[in-house]
Amino acid sequence: MKKAKMTLARDYIIGEIDKRIYGSFIEHLGRAVYGGIFEPGHPTADENSFRGDVTGLVKELNVTVVRYPGGNFVSGYNWEDGVGPVENRPARLELAWGSTEPNTFGTNEFAEWCKKADTECMMAVNLGTRGPDEARSLVEYCNHPNGTYLSDLRRSHGFEKPHGIKLWCLGNEMDGPWQMGSKTPFEYGRVATEASKLMKLTDPSIETVVCGSSYPGIKTFGEWETTVLDLAYDTAGYISLHSYYGNGENDIRNYLAKSLEMDSFIRSVVSICDYIKAKKHGKKDINLSFDEWNVWFHSGETKYEKWSKAPSILEDIYTFEDALLVGCLLITLLRHCDRVKIACLAQLVNVIAPIMTKTGGGVFRQTIFFPFMQASSYGRGKALLPVIDSPKYDSKDFTDVPVIEAIATLNDETDELTIFCVNKSTDDDVLLNVSLLGLDGFKPFEYTAMEGFGLKQTNDFGNDEVKPKIKPLPAVEKSSLELKLQPLSWNMLRLKK
Ligand code: AHR
Repeated sequence: MKKAKMTLARDYIIGEIDKRIYGSFIEHLGRAVYGGIFEPGHPTADENSFRGDVTGLVKELNVTVVRYPGGNFVSGYNWEDGVGPVENRPARLELAWGSTEPNTFGTNEFAEWCKKADTECMMAVNLGTRGPDEARSLVEYCNHPNGTYLSDLRRSHGFEKPHGIKLWCLGNEMDGPWQMGSKTPFEYGRVATEASKLMKLTDPSIETVVCGSSYPGIKTFGEWETTVLDLAYDTAGYISLHSYYGNGENDIRNYLAKSLEMDSFIRSVVSICDYIKAKKHGKKDINLSFDEWNVWFHSGETKYEKWSKAPSILEDIYTFEDALLVGCLLITLLRHCDRVKIACLAQLVNVIAPIMTKTGGGVFRQTIFFPFMQASSYGRGKALLPVIDSPKYDSKDFTDVPVIEAIATLNDETDELTIFCVNKSTDDDVLLNVSLLGLDGFKPFEYTAMEGFGLKQTNDFGNDEVKPKIKPLPAVEKSSLELKLQPLSWNMLRLKK
């Protein structure tokens, strides 16, 4: 059996975990909205036509913030189409995904849904086909109490109280040639700066996120962030990161090493943020909003009828190995919680999502639902800096990949310590010795693992077998404990004082 060691100490702290690190994303894409969170006539639909079975699972998943309405969709969206009496709302060609947008769900419905789902709204504005003027109008419509044309328009639409949306994305992936209205870094940096300025003049309490690169491999990565932040440093609070991972080559050792790619992406963006801060002699840190991350490769190029309404697109069905990588990615985000303040699992329902529905039918939890749910429920408080001594391996694209990827969180409010770890070894159990320095009195009370499943095993309607199983609790002796981690496993140990 292989051995590894993790040392945790009460005072070795990476940082406070911003609860918005457990966010997700709903785009007007495929069946995310229509047939996902919203379905008039569904047996579980409430008075707003929000599917109760879906809202229930979103709450169980403990999603803290949801980005909306896109994604690529937002770059051609007129927010005015989605407010006011439903019978007056226009259906439009939706150019990002080639479907028809009926606009029967819009800004007010989303703000209402967020309340139902106990989550916060993160709103994106269109800086593709539109600009600062429409962006500031949307802030006024949503957040101004009353007495102006747009705030009174909202009130006339039945929403007396402002929605109070605090977090705003300045467009989406504006570097990508596929994006409607894509821009050079200079063009985008100027527009984003002016949009953010006007939006903050409208409501000084909001925070804004500028677009970083749409993926780290894009040619302009680095130059994009530097130019955009040089222009937007004074007004922006965050810069976005997007990245999706896949196992197209069917190489599990290389696949599970891809959290190293996320790690290096985060480090590079942090360096650029700090370079700009230094260059400006600035006082404020620009923090990171990793507002699109997930596994995305199963669905490939799905064929669907052009201009249809809510076609089934990007409906990836996730396997056990995907849940293991999602676990590693969550650990990576937590390891950078001093700078990654917001992160969104993309997406939430039906479209590359942890929750799947049948239109008119039931729901199920995908494999990736479980590591996210456990991290978002119990990975709160502070992240402790783990000193890990692990065996390593080399794979096709990576060297020195630690077999054990782990993190611990300490929640002073609940007096709980939680350890999350993945054993990436394909064959070996690993005996992990955990040393608890200055953490006397913590006793294990829940130990679960996702282990022993087929790598390609999936869940389905009526079958969510791929999920954590309860394991016997380890004993704590002389401030240390041992976990025997099965090969290819996601593990969570909770301790309480
Ligand atoms: O999440 C799916 C798509 O991926 C989003 O619309 C876009 O922002 C990204 O490229």
